[in-house]
Amino acid sequence: MHVSRRDILTGLAICPMMAGMPSIARAMAPPASPKNSSRKPLFGIAVRPDQLFSGSDLEAAIRRDCQLIVPEYHGQWSAVEWVRGESYHGNYDAITGYARATGKMVRGHALLWDQMTPQWAKDEMAADADWSLIRNHFADLLPRYRGAIGEWVVVNEMIDTENGASGIRRNAFQRAFGNDYIARALETAHSLDPEAKLMINDYSLVQDNPVDAARRLMMLKLVEELKARGTPLHAVGVQGHIELAKGPIAQDEVRAFLAELADFGVDVAITELDVLESDRGASIEARDRHVAEATERLLDVACAERALTSVTTWGVSDRLSWLQEREPPTREAQACSPVDCAGLNRGLPYDGAMQAKPMREVLGRYVA
Ligand code: G3I
Repeated sequence: MHVSRRDILTGLAICPMMAGMPSIARAMAPPASPKNSSRKPLFGIAVRPDQLFSGSDLEAAIRRDCQLIVPEYHGQWSAVEWVRGESYHGNYDAITGYARATGKMVRGHALLWDQMTPQWAKDEMAADADWSLIRNHFADLLPRYRGAIGEWVVVNEMIDTENGASGIRRNAFQRAFGNDYIARALETAHSLDPEAKLMINDYSLVQDNPVDAARRLMMLKLVEELKARGTPLHAVGVQGHIELAKGPIAQDEVRAFLAELADFGVDVAITELDVLESDRGASIEARDRHVAEATERLLDVACAERALTSVTTWGVSDRLSWLQEREPPTREAQACSPVDCAGLNRGLPYDGAMQAKPMREVLGRYVA
């Protein structure tokens, strides 16, 4: 009985009674361990421009550790063109300048993300669904950074499978242009920079829970449709924001998911890796072990996929992680000396004092 990877994804093929069937064993046998693979994915770090010129311990780690940098926030539409027609390119100029000076690559992030779309643009789309609004935004950036930014997240977080949603998120773009906006955005980006690697990027795709499972299937459906119509989609970003309270890494399903994506002829990337802890009351040693173990379970599967080209952490130090905004640290943590910072979420490679944690050691075994 042939068991497709899609069956695995839907959980049909992993129930106990089928476990051990030779065809399943083969389908899921992990390829050669990535730990000793000669071909390792690039290591990326999401950065804020002020970190790059501070000459700080952060900049030293970024310069030493990674081959790819991504603007954590400052590349978003609302950070570039808060006021219609008044674009500020200083942050992208700074990031591409630093990358050029240090021999790194840059991923543009993100051309379209509903959450970071300026209100004037949302109002305009709602009033008159004129695609030139989108094209003008892309034309403001892609030609300017052609050759300096080699890949772009063109559409960010377009999937929604909850609360009866159709699968494609009902956002400002979808309401104005329909589901087609995703393909149109990729085609528009390609017309403005035919050399750029174009990505779509989404979250909640790697853990063992019904939401992630549904989102994996929706992503496959979307990629299949885009590739079937010849859309210039070159890679899929799997954000990799691991939330320990949301279940273990679904290793078999992620292995099948990434293989299915590769079969559609796209590269894959882990684009925003970090870990939201679930028990800050445990010892620092236990907390760091939990973070490292989850990281290892994901990378052991992801880095075995030949189509995986990069792993990017969403920041470098706990003291500047967006996760602190999710779970505002205690007053003590905010005031903490950089040495302990035990009150911060410990979900990035370095702690508040830039001491490498077990997560950093795990990364070092899997990335370039
Ligand atoms: O720089 C301003 C500062 O001048 C101002 O005083 C302060 C208070 O308003 O805001 C600062 O900007 C904040 C920015 O982060 C830089 O720290 C923005 O308000 C805040 O909205 C922004 O949050 C970012 C968020 O995306 C929204 O853009 C986070 O740093 C960033 O980590 C997060 O990243 C997203 C990915 O793009 C997509 N996937 C999910 C991920 C986490 O939400």
